[in-house]
Amino acid sequence: MNTPKKKKTLLINVAFLVIAAAILTFLLNAPEETTAKLPHDDDHNRFFAMKKKAAGKLCVECHTPEGVYPLPEDHPPKYRCLFCHKRD
Ligand code: HEC
Ligand code: HEC
Repeated sequence: MNTPKKKKTLLINVAFLVIAAAILTFLLNAPEETTAKLPHDDDHNRFFAMKKKAAGKLCVECHTPEGVYPLPEDHPPKYRCLFCHKRD
């Protein structure tokens, strides 16, 4: 039986889906990439030629709390450095 009440429920569900899709699209498009790129300097030049995984293991030579350039305290989870800090 298709009462008016059921139609209304269907409409609400459709509206919900449309809004959810809009929010998802917004989230997927919104974040602009602002993460610092791997610097081109004597400390980092050797990493441009390496495989990402091999290079990533060596970052912690310097980027640890005891290293010459510790990560900021609010740094996000930090495995696979080059996944976020792109090389170009
Ligand atoms: C030999 C020491 C050393 C190693 C190894 C090293 N870094 Fe660095 N890194 C530094 C120093 C010193 C700075 C700060 C000065 C600069 O920007 O070069 C820095 C800065 C950075 C920055 C910030 C750049 C900016 O624009 O603010 C990023 C990102 C970075 N390193 C990523 C990495 C990654 C990823 C690796 C591994 C592939 C790595 N570093 C390995 C010494 C090192
Ligand atoms: C999930 C993404 C992500 C991963 C993985 C990651 N970082 Fe970061 N890193 C960031 C963000 C975001 C910032 C702060 C914004 C910026 O880039 O200035 C940051 C900041 C830094 C900075 C300071 C930049 C500056 O301007 O002083 C360094 C150095 C750095 N990261 C090195 C590393 C190293 C080394 C690794 C691997 C051990 C690593 N990051 C892994 C996202 C990431």
